[in-house]
Amino acid sequence: MSYQTKMNIPPVKAYFPEEDKNWVAEKIKEMLGSGMLTLGALGKEFEKEFAAFTGAQYAVAVNSGTSAIEIPLRVLDIAGKDVLVPTNTFFATAAAVVHAGGNPVFVDMNPETFAISTAELEKRLTPKTAGVILVHIAGLVSHQTPEIIDWCKQKGLWCLEDAAHAHGSTLNGKHAGTFGIAGTLSFYPTKIMTSGEGGMILTNDKKIFEEAQLYRDQGKTSFLTNTHGKMGYNWRMSEPNAAIGLVQIRRLPEILKKRAAIAKFYDESLANCDFGKALKVPSDSFSNYYKYIFVPNKQLQDRGAFKKAFKEKTGVSLTGEVYELPLHKQPVFQQWSGGSFPVADDLCARHICLPLFPSMTAEEATHVIASLKEAFHG
Ligand SMILES: Cc1ncc(COP(=O)(O)O)c(C=O)c1O
Repeated sequence: MSYQTKMNIPPVKAYFPEEDKNWVAEKIKEMLGSGMLTLGALGKEFEKEFAAFTGAQYAVAVNSGTSAIEIPLRVLDIAGKDVLVPTNTFFATAAAVVHAGGNPVFVDMNPETFAISTAELEKRLTPKTAGVILVHIAGLVSHQTPEIIDWCKQKGLWCLEDAAHAHGSTLNGKHAGTFGIAGTLSFYPTKIMTSGEGGMILTNDKKIFEEAQLYRDQGKTSFLTNTHGKMGYNWRMSEPNAAIGLVQIRRLPEILKKRAAIAKFYDESLANCDFGKALKVPSDSFSNYYKYIFVPNKQLQDRGAFKKAFKEKTGVSLTGEVYELPLHKQPVFQQWSGGSFPVADDLCARHICLPLFPSMTAEEATHVIASLKEAFHG
């Protein structure tokens, strides 16, 4: 690689304008005075505004995107049952199944959507299958989502959406996480909006809503008693986290707009390139571009070494993949690793993800593209 210029561009950058920092600081000062530091008014307001933004009837705030998945799985009582999970997802999707007493059954991916393959679902069905976890990888709500939900209904299964990547993403105007029996989000700091740590459960199902509130607070039958009716845990969201989440949900439309403008520039700049292609977002979808996926035609010999050299020469940090190592290859999941997953084996090894964050300047975005073109042509 030979580069004329170098510009330090991080893989992600949280977006907190000064007025938002001041608002959070003020709220933290107030809560330190009142001592109301968990399960309080800010958490309730965060739930209310998140539900309104997404169109879900109910929202329950919790301490992580991982517990947001495990809680509905516990309400759905998956102990001893099989749950179909894409192999190209984060560890937590399948770990939540295991923690709730179920068995993850891995399913290959659709190369066009990076989501679970509908054709493969049928092949992986077992007599013990209770449901499917659909993950909206990279913030793209697969156009096959309604088809997957229908297939689940036909088979008597539920569909839980792991929408950890998909704040603000929609398909035909319907928000990620509102298609299935419940949807879950993560507010981990690398996500497009954050609460520090945190997660949210969205649902229109009253039982899941009511029981989720018990599970997140040690399974207590109510906030003020010491009677425990469920095998819950401490999955509560604290008030400082809720304050950060609230300021971010209010900022989300601006974040989405800024991300979309950079993604559009990337799309246009890479439309006719001869060394690979970006993941296509169909016109009926709105993606938050949590990840901007680019698939080179040929597999890089050593992607890790390429990323390191790319950063050294250009200053550009590529972000983490979705995912580098599919779950059927993860050491901890070996007992559930049976099956063949040729699409995930190929695409997980081959794709890269470009940096994209709301405060990225036009100059920075131009540098990313110029560096990429030079790297692949050089
Ligand atoms: C697809 C997916 N599911 C679940 C999680 C877990 O979220 P958290 O890190 O907030 O527990 C993540 C996040 O990192 C994720 O990417």
